[in-house]
Parts: sequence; C-alpha cells; structure tokens
Amino acid sequence: MACLGVGLIGTGYMGKCHALAWNAVAPVFGDVERPRLVGLAEVEAALARRRADEFGFESATSNWRDLLSDPDIDVISITTPNQFHAEMAVAALEAGKHVWCEKPMATTLADAERMLAASRASGKVTVMGYNYIQNPLIRHMAALVAQGAIGAVTHVRVEMDEDYMADPDEPFYWKSEARSGYGALDDFAVHPLSLLSVLVGLPVEVMTDMSKPYADRPAREGGRRAVENHDIASVLLRFGEGPSGVLMANRSAWGRKGRIFVQIYGSEGALLYDQERMNEFQLYDRAGEPANHGFRTVLTSGSHPIYGRFVPAPGHGLGFNDLKIIECRELLAAVAGEPAHIVDFERGLAIERAVHAMAQSHSEGRWMKVS
Ligand SMILES: NC(=O)c1ccc[n+]([C@@H]2O[C@H](COP(=O)([O-])OP(=O)(O)OC[C@H]3O[C@@H](n4cnc5c(N)ncnc54)[C@H](O)[C@@H]3O)[C@@H](O)[C@H]2O)c1
Repeated sequence: MACLGVGLIGTGYMGKCHALAWNAVAPVFGDVERPRLVGLAEVEAALARRRADEFGFESATSNWRDLLSDPDIDVISITTPNQFHAEMAVAALEAGKHVWCEKPMATTLADAERMLAASRASGKVTVMGYNYIQNPLIRHMAALVAQGAIGAVTHVRVEMDEDYMADPDEPFYWKSEARSGYGALDDFAVHPLSLLSVLVGLPVEVMTDMSKPYADRPAREGGRRAVENHDIASVLLRFGEGPSGVLMANRSAWGRKGRIFVQIYGSEGALLYDQERMNEFQLYDRAGEPANHGFRTVLTSGSHPIYGRFVPAPGHGLGFNDLKIIECRELLAAVAGEPAHIVDFERGLAIERAVHAMAQSHSEGRWMKVS
C-alpha cells in the first residue's frame, strides 16, 4: 500500500483523535506504509504551529484551503464543527483529495446531498467518523445477528447519553447553536444509527419528541444566551416488516459519561452492549437447561479479529482512540480498492435522511417515513 500524504483541518478533541490514528495506524497494523503527515490547519496560526509540532505534522496554516492546493496531500481529515463539514468536504473532493469527515455529515439534507454528489463526481474515497462501528465486538455482534444466533430480531433499543451539557450553567458554545444542527440528533443519534446500520439496518419510519432541558446558558460575552437546539431526543422506530425499536439521545444526562446502550432482542435470545464497557458484551441464549439460563458476559480477545493487532492478551481491552485507528486502517483499505468496513458518504446520507425525518417528525407531531 503506497504512502499517503495527510492534511488535517481542526485540532480540537477529534483533531487530536485523527492525528493519533494517523500516527499509530502503521505500527499497530504493520501492513501499511506510514502515512506522511504533511500539514494541518487551525484558525490561529500560532495554535496551528503548536499543534503541528505536538501531532508530528510538517507544516501549519491558518487557511485550510492551503491544504487543498498542496500536491503532497492525498487525504484530508475534517474535524471542525458541524457547520463547516459540507464546504470543506466538497472543496477537498473537488481538489482531488480523499476525505475522512467527522460526523454528522452536514447540518442540512441539501448539504449532505451535495457532499455525496461531489464524492461520486470525484471517484475519491469518503469515510465518515462513525468510529463505534469499528469495535471488534460490534462486528462480532453483527455477525451473530446475521448468523441467526438470537433468531429473528423482534425489537431493538439504542440509547446514547452523556452529561457534558447536564449542568445548566455550562457555558454556551457552538454545539448549542442552530447552525450546528438539531442538537442531540446530529450530535448523538447519528452514532446509534450508525450502529443500527451494521447490526439490523436503518429504520424506515420514525416518530420523535425533542426537548430542551435548559432554555439558556451563560454566554462568554456575559449574561445568558438562548439555547437554539434540543439536548434530548426520544424516537420510536419502525423497520418495515422487521423489528420495532426505540432510540433515545440525551447530552444532559447526569452520570452518563459515554453511554451507548444497545439491546437487541430476538426469538431465540438477546444481545446487550454498552460503550461505557466497550470491552464486553452480553449474550442470552434460550437453548439448554432453563435452570442455567441467564446473560453471559463475553470479554474481547484475539478471537474477535483486529483486537490482537493492539494487544496479544485477552480481556486487557481497547480504548476509544483505538476505534479511530481501526477506522483509519479501513480508510487505507478503501483507498487501496480493498473491501472496507466504513460508513462512506452513500451510507452517511442514509443516516442523515433518518435524522432529518426524525426532526421533521418532531416539528409536525407525526410519524415520518425515511425517504
Ligand atoms: N466521532 C466521534 O466520536 C466524535 C466525538 C466528538 C466530536 N465529533 C465531531 O467532531 C467535530 C469536531 O468536534 P470537536 O469536539 O473536536 O470540536 P472542538 O471544538 O474540540 O474542535 C474543533 C476545532 O476546529 C477548529 N476550527 C474551527 N473552524 C476552523 C477552520 N475554519 N479552520 C481550521 N480549524 C477550524 C477549532 O478551532 C477547534 O480547534 C464535530 O463535527 C463533532 O460532531 C465526533
């Protein structure tokens, strides 16, 4: 696999996560050339330079378009706030770069459609930052469902909760702006949807209620500023002839730090997974002696492919950033024309369609079909 030149836009929480992945993908997997970390962009030149030194990038700029005109850059990581994804991704694709874009795809359906059109026109690889699908245990659970290990799936529940906005006095920042999207739906619900897309498929009809736990938050410039989107979303799901389901997302849930709780019930058993305990899942199998029935906890190990690339010993565990390293390896596979376990812009748009149908359902107070 040839050496790729990398450009990174944004160096906050996710920018660092991408940078760690680009640095680690070659040593972890041992079967790809070490990418060349050519340049990164941040809003302030001094911060960009500092981050370039920390993350191991050669050059730094305060103008992200500089990266697009650099012939040494083959792929662009986009880790900026949601409202910039569409403009940056379309421009990068038009400049002939592969794109690795953080979720959500865009804040409007029209922008997400533009991104898909640009990706098709360019023929370049696109990968959305749906890292949770990369957990070896999620892949294993998907295989169990596909093999019928829990029979026909009858019901699914997915919940994503964190408490980083639970404090009413948490200062207002970009995630509470309407231009960043609907709130809990774009910020959180897209992740459970990405998991559903690999575990049981996406819903075809949705019914949503959204709420704002706090009307305003302290503004950095003083006083309080009205919250412009919803921190909580509750959604009923229908999967056509398939299972029924529920999706809940709450970014103001005290005590929850990184919970993505997945429950899949079938005619022969059930599967449970919680991202806060990402190195285990639980399996219930109705076969056998009823007196011994109960959920069984399975720890991750070398029997779950890819885990062994990180650590040879079973049960020692992977972490959040490791999922990004796996996502990075999948991106490199896609660039090499190999099968890849990714959410590309095609599948990303299907997730966006579900999210926008959810928002429309809330505003119209009725079930909506996912177009
Ligand atoms: N995949 C995941 O698990 C996950 C987790 C958290 C956030 N995200 C997504 O990642 C994206 C970024 O979120 P974050 O939490 O890292 O935000 P952040 O605020 O920590 O970082 C964003 C960075 O982008 C920079 N930036 C803004 N405009 C820029 C521009 N024009 N040019 C260059 N840099 C610019 C900011 O200065 C900041 O450093 C969001 O879309 C978010 O939804 C994904």
